[in-house]
Amino acid sequence: MARDLFRQRPRRPLLAASILSADFTRLGQQSLDALAAGADLIHIDVMDGHFVPNLSMGPAVCAAVRRACPDAFLDVHLMVTDPGMFLTPFAKSGADSVTFHVETVDDPAALAAQARALGLGVGLASNPDTAAERHEPYLKLFDVQLVMSVHPGFSGQAFIEKSLAKTQWLRTRLGDAARVQMDGGVGPHTAGACAKAGCDVMVSASALFDGKDLKAAANAIHLAASVG
Ligand code: DX5
Ligand code: ZN
Repeated sequence: MARDLFRQRPRRPLLAASILSADFTRLGQQSLDALAAGADLIHIDVMDGHFVPNLSMGPAVCAAVRRACPDAFLDVHLMVTDPGMFLTPFAKSGADSVTFHVETVDDPAALAAQARALGLGVGLASNPDTAAERHEPYLKLFDVQLVMSVHPGFSGQAFIEKSLAKTQWLRTRLGDAARVQMDGGVGPHTAGACAKAGCDVMVSASALFDGKDLKAAANAIHLAASVG
């Protein structure tokens, strides 16, 4: 597995399986199942009960997923008020990339540099109500820009349509230089619109894990993403 998955060219569309909707009693096997079904990477949602109104997973869970999936690309989404606190713990736990929120840090460039010094890839996220322009000073510094298409905190919410405009805004400015990830409400019915807007990393939790057929859901998202 390529540790630099987000930086590889050409930028083929990627499907990230968010294990927030997986069976927590079998996270390792569910991660392997998602990869076998066609997911390109595993997305680990980290919540602190402060930046978002929920608690989820920490570095120990990331380390457990790494043990179960030694070759997987692990993409850690930090929905926490103090992401700097968690860079070293996740680097030690086998993460490949960390994404933190622009709303949470004064100096995203400095934190990105710290993450890179630990050998991590970096992403910059923003909530649905945060202006696209907040990403502008940082477009060259991150491997991926993450557009939240739900208010973060829970899986299974409805896709927020206006997030497509932010994705378009980012893709126009990024060209081929970086990836645009969308997270929240992404599934077979929304992946086409996401791809058309310029998204090339689709994060999906409930559409993959809540249905009966993980492989069929992954195939349907890949198909919609490739047709756009
Ligand atoms: C939301 C998380 C998402 C979430 C997506 O706060 O960041 O990654 O798991 O869940 P679905 O795909 O069900 O909207
Ligand atoms: Zn996420």
